[in-house]
Amino acid sequence: MTSKLRRTTLSAILAATLAAPFAMQMTAHADEPLKVGFLVKMPEQAWFINEQKAATALGKKDGFTVVNIGTPDGEKVLGAIDNLGAQGAKGFVICAPDVRLGPAIQARAKRYNMKFVTVDDQLVDSTGKPLAGVPHLGMSAFKIGNQVGQAISDEMKKRGWKPEEVGAIRITDYELPTAKLRTDGATETLLANGFKKDNIFDAPQKTTDDEGGFNAASPVLSKHPNIKKWIVYALNEETVLGGVRATEQLHIPAADVIGVGINGAGEAFAEFQKKEPTGFYGTIAVSSTNHGRESTENLVDWIEKGKVPPADTQTTGKLMTRDNWLQVRSDLGI
Ligand code: GLA
Repeated sequence: MTSKLRRTTLSAILAATLAAPFAMQMTAHADEPLKVGFLVKMPEQAWFINEQKAATALGKKDGFTVVNIGTPDGEKVLGAIDNLGAQGAKGFVICAPDVRLGPAIQARAKRYNMKFVTVDDQLVDSTGKPLAGVPHLGMSAFKIGNQVGQAISDEMKKRGWKPEEVGAIRITDYELPTAKLRTDGATETLLANGFKKDNIFDAPQKTTDDEGGFNAASPVLSKHPNIKKWIVYALNEETVLGGVRATEQLHIPAADVIGVGINGAGEAFAEFQKKEPTGFYGTIAVSSTNHGRESTENLVDWIEKGKVPPADTQTTGKLMTRDNWLQVRSDLGI
């Protein structure tokens, strides 16, 4: 055997050895029905529970399996992709705990030859731009933020509040682009309606839930005891509810608080069903059912029919308050 030939033979053996586990994996799962994952950053949040429920329901109807996994940190995300790979899943939908995990998620998915799409939070590359080649479905964040600002401005007028006597708690998460866009949109509309710029106070949040909202809002309220009327806005209703709870803790009457959230999920419904109105005035409801169903449908069509999903789908929302929540809920199929 010439040395060249030997080299070729050796590399062929090596290639076969390396490929073997993957080939086995593929054949072992070949005749099973299609399996896809649905990974969310906060599996306890009503919004995400509903998305996963909608994905599972679509799977039942169309004959594929959805593996729902909660992935609150980067390690869990990578572990979940390994787990899906080992189960022979062909792809996944993901709302990641940190959008900067983009390149790592892409590399891990490639290892198993899995396709994936993002929902809600769009992944970014190492320069902070949306990760190329990954179809996304999420809210039209800035416009929905505008709706928050409009709802608050309208309600302020209705209550006869003078802008100079009102403070705003803007609970922010500037590391998440959709969150920044949402609060920026709200701010823009508030200012256009005469809200005082100097009366807007930033309250950076650590986590995008009730607790994160409460912890962010409390110090702002304590620092401004002279302000008697407050508005609260943020990226989602859970955060706003946390902010409203912080006003209650300081015995600020509900009539002096206007909180408007975004999502339209379980927590808002519970709030609207309380006997007395609270400082949580309303929320811009978006269909989490559609987000879960459409993102999954996009992924499955891509896997099964080779139909590449639209690069960026942006969904719209509708103001939901105590007065109309049941109607809006049924209109949006939530
Ligand atoms: C983000 C928020 C969620 C929800 C989704 C909807 O992920 O953290 O609460 O608002 O966006 O797109």
